[in-house]
Amino acid sequence: MTLDLASIRAAYPALRDGYAYLDGAAGTQVPESVISAIAGAYEGGVGNVGGAFPASDRSGAIVEDARRAVADLVGGDPRGVVLGPNMTTLTYRFSYALSRTWRPGDEIVLSRLDHDANVRPWVQAAERAGATVRWAEVDLPAGELPAEQYDTLLGDRTRLVAVTAASNILGTMPDVAAITKRAHDAGALTYVDGVHATPHTPIDVSALGADFYATSAYKWSGPHIGTVVAAPSLLETVQPDKLASSTTEVPERFETGTAPFADLAGVTAAVDHLAGLGSDATGTRRQRILASMTAVEAHEQAELAHLLDGLAAIPGVRLIGAPRRRTATVYFTVGGHTPRAVAEHLASRRVNVWNGHNYAWELTAALGIRDQGGAVRAGLVHYNDRSDVERLLAAVSELR
Ligand SMILES: Cc1ncc(COP(=O)(O)O)c(C=O)c1O
Repeated sequence: MTLDLASIRAAYPALRDGYAYLDGAAGTQVPESVISAIAGAYEGGVGNVGGAFPASDRSGAIVEDARRAVADLVGGDPRGVVLGPNMTTLTYRFSYALSRTWRPGDEIVLSRLDHDANVRPWVQAAERAGATVRWAEVDLPAGELPAEQYDTLLGDRTRLVAVTAASNILGTMPDVAAITKRAHDAGALTYVDGVHATPHTPIDVSALGADFYATSAYKWSGPHIGTVVAAPSLLETVQPDKLASSTTEVPERFETGTAPFADLAGVTAAVDHLAGLGSDATGTRRQRILASMTAVEAHEQAELAHLLDGLAAIPGVRLIGAPRRRTATVYFTVGGHTPRAVAEHLASRRVNVWNGHNYAWELTAALGIRDQGGAVRAGLVHYNDRSDVERLLAAVSELR
């Protein structure tokens, strides 16, 4: 299956502004179907859930649809889909809840490849509990996170292993299944950050061995909503702080306050959009998603190869990391120019990229660039095409 890039791009109103949106790793644009699903929910009338009137029922249906959609996207159980404002907030929520049973002498294992949102909440929870943090290191300069090191990091006091499914700066996709297998053998739970990985590759939370899998809809063409997916039976064992008056049911007890119902309609529309990227995909929505995301990965990898070759050929460009398996995300510097100056020059050429540490706090420190302005990040998602890549390469070439 191949992607019809022209029709996919036409579905995104924002892409008409003439910019090459290579900032998808920081948040994607949304297709018309998502915009109209959100507007449609408001137009149709939404109320708070649990009421005796139809608008309340509509909101309840929107929430349940969103749970089913996210479950289809990642291969989870709808009753284990926790919805919330974003990954960071949900991870803080889970770090508080999970660490309630940690005791002094317990251990957790974190990785320096991770975005700080899958690091700091756990560091702070460990501090409160008196637990010890052990670190999985990144093999530099390759930018790999070797799974074997977990053999020496894990022990019978390990309670949790938090690891990313993909680095948001280098694109590195570690062997998560090998890491979670080791964690489970040691009796630890696994919390996998899927925020960067989810838009780039088919996801199966069981195959990854993720007890908890976090992702954010705004990275895959949806609104600013985060979600954590787990087995309902596991969620039953976790007690979050909650209001006395709110439900004790799973997954609702992890969801504080009133949900943004219209945005949740946009989450379902985003998943439907992804499922429909391969126009000849058939079967259940889950099957169509797997076929579409396989085609997305092939498309992005082809453009990534072109981007990497092109950047490597420009004098003064230094690519950071060369991981074997990666998303279409590159992190680079240009000699004689600060990352911010490169990003500003690219913006003047209508190319959107990010500069800085991009919250990869531990990794950019290990690379020795965190306090020097980091580097430049360009990331492709399914709607980026060859012309976006060519424009980036042409604009970077001007800086020689
Ligand atoms: C890999 C990764 N993890 C976590 C986050 C934080 O996600 P959120 O903005 O939903 O809190 C990001 C955001 O850029 C990310 O790229």
